[in-house]
Amino acid sequence: MSYENLAVASHNGVTRITIDRPKVLNALNRATLASLDRALSDLPEGTRVVVLTGAGEKSFVAGADIAEMAELPAPLAAQYAGEGQRILARLGELAVPVIAQVNGYALGGGLELVLACDFAIASDNARFGLPEVGLGVIPGFGGTIRLARKIGPAAARQLLYTGAQLKAEEALRAGLVNEVVPLAELTGRVDAIAAQIAKNAPLAVASAKRSARHAEETDLGTALAVEAQLFGLCFATTDQGEGMRAFLDKRPAQWTGK
Ligand code: CAA
Repeated sequence: MSYENLAVASHNGVTRITIDRPKVLNALNRATLASLDRALSDLPEGTRVVVLTGAGEKSFVAGADIAEMAELPAPLAAQYAGEGQRILARLGELAVPVIAQVNGYALGGGLELVLACDFAIASDNARFGLPEVGLGVIPGFGGTIRLARKIGPAAARQLLYTGAQLKAEEALRAGLVNEVVPLAELTGRVDAIAAQIAKNAPLAVASAKRSARHAEETDLGTALAVEAQLFGLCFATTDQGEGMRAFLDKRPAQWTGK
């Protein structure tokens, strides 16, 4: 399958989606967002983890495409944002974890993309920010909401109102990314984490993601009830029996994903 401005490659259950417009630092135009939407619908069979990254060594995604937005008529702008929000929300709805492999600038829509992933691993040259107010707009792909949920409302507001950039180490301290590694080691480190995830029972990982995601959007009592339900559903899978038997037999589990 080929996509405009997007490369998709799958190996050992890890599907890497690369935003591929390096000349404009992988800015997200409508065509690229539409490609991402399609790629998420067409994930190769056997995908256990998705890795999202940007082409080149300078930028993950430097935001929504400013040249395109400059021509956007006011009556269509809310719809444009809604479409971007819908596509980014799909990352959370996937049954498999999505890791943001942040290889440089993650600004505006690029940071919003990071925030829509399950977690992020960054290279030491990564930079994070929401520069939209400097363009006369606000983040429209979830940034005003998800950044506060990730790093707290006060820290998020400072970035939102100033448009300032965080360096990779600052993003690490803020809890925006899980790890920072040298750029040359980024792909290897993300592959190692993805492989660790892919070793586990697929339905259990899917349920873990669902429960964790659900918990972010509801009260503790409801979240605990959902967790218990999902725990119960795990016991209706073949892999639960296999996983526990394999442990007791001191052998590796053979997952069927059922
Ligand atoms: N949209 C369109 N083109 C972009 C772009 C973007 N978001 N970011 C960079 N580019 C283009 C530049 O116009 C430039 O093109 P030309 O070579 O044709 O001039 C090319 O990419 C390289 O960029 P720079 O020359 O600017 O590179 P630099 O190293 O000097 O600066 C940068 C890097 C700091 C990331 C700078 O490019 C920059 O500030 N980019 C814009 C970041 C931004 O404001 N993002 C938010 C967009 S708004 C948004 O995302 C709204 C939303 O929430 C939906």
